[in-house]
Amino acid sequence: MKIQAVYKQDGNGKPSGRVERFGPETAKRARRFHESFPEYQPTPLAALDELAKWAKVTSIHVKDESRRFGLNAFKVLGGSYAIGNCIAKKLRTDLAKMPFEKLTGADVREKLGSLTFATATDGNHGRGIAWTANRLGQKSVVYMPKGSAAERLANIRALGADASITELNYDDTVRLAKADSEKNGWVLVQDTAWPGYEEIPGYIMEGYTTMAAEALEQLGGTLPTHVFLQAGVGSMAAAVAAYFAAVGGEDRPVIVIVEPDQADCFYRTAAANDGKIHAVTGEMRSIMAGLCCGEPSPLAWEILRDCADCFISMPDAVAARGMRILGNPLGGDARIVSGESGAAAFGLAIEILTDPAHARLKEKLRLDEKSRILCFSTEGDTDRENYRRIVWGC
Ligand SMILES: Cc1ncc(COP(=O)(O)O)c(C=O)c1O
Repeated sequence: MKIQAVYKQDGNGKPSGRVERFGPETAKRARRFHESFPEYQPTPLAALDELAKWAKVTSIHVKDESRRFGLNAFKVLGGSYAIGNCIAKKLRTDLAKMPFEKLTGADVREKLGSLTFATATDGNHGRGIAWTANRLGQKSVVYMPKGSAAERLANIRALGADASITELNYDDTVRLAKADSEKNGWVLVQDTAWPGYEEIPGYIMEGYTTMAAEALEQLGGTLPTHVFLQAGVGSMAAAVAAYFAAVGGEDRPVIVIVEPDQADCFYRTAAANDGKIHAVTGEMRSIMAGLCCGEPSPLAWEILRDCADCFISMPDAVAARGMRILGNPLGGDARIVSGESGAAAFGLAIEILTDPAHARLKEKLRLDEKSRILCFSTEGDTDRENYRRIVWGC
């Protein structure tokens, strides 16, 4: 399948000071917060040993985020951590002193009254915001881009959010959520940054480090040699890449960033290599709904520019194959139900490992029999109709 790759062109991949923010200390704090929720459990890390043998590498591990808080996606890690931090800040206290049972206490509502948290989302982030607001006895408003799946909207509404699908693409939906939040006094909890709006997306990225820290712990502390990460606005990829760069230092894993060719803003920005961000505008038609973001988060780009090794733009078929392989494992390997965005980076890793057409790319990425690969299946079947259509081929 046709994929396009651009390698990092400046620097040598040395972690910059920015990555330290998302290192083990932050991950410890974020995890302590997440652990305070009764629903918390580390998600499973599957060792796909038979697949690794078939693909001629040492190991392939996939973190199954479909099990996260019963929400079928990883995103709640960021949204909940940001909401917790917003509340702690309003109360002029440290989040470490505000675990779940305190955040849900009468005291918070007495002091702060009722808050409304707003966001724009393709589905997973909004579900995390709606869930957290609901668990904390607060309100949420969620805007979704044109074409969002009815099931994803229904799941968000079921958590009590005032949710609707707009006539706009993702980036314009974010602008609408921002404008309405300013007008109505809502707290905007957006998972992408822009000049003057960096604190909350920064917290969201910190929240994602829980997922990376769990994975490293489940690997027994042994760093993978390669981490494949899918990017929408890039907050997840940057947080996880920064975590591994902070832990690994000079020995950090090779980091590969994966995007749909319809929304490949990081790929375009890296390819242009002119110090400017290159956005994708207009309608973005990809099955990878969670990755259909045309504007990179500048916070994410600052990190990925320093510590990603390769940016890849790829067609839907690569993600679809990833979904089918994860859902139909070899031998005794675990079955993972992985959605369109969830399977993107895994699909790409398999594509490079197994298609001789990508031999040069494989070599440049130093992928060989010694490689220990880590991927994150960031969602399950969040749009079940589409999942079946893709996996059953109907
Ligand atoms: C399942 C899934 N994976 C990955 C991503 C990408 O995360 P980010 O937008 O932080 O790059 C998203 C974003 O919504 C998502 O829903």
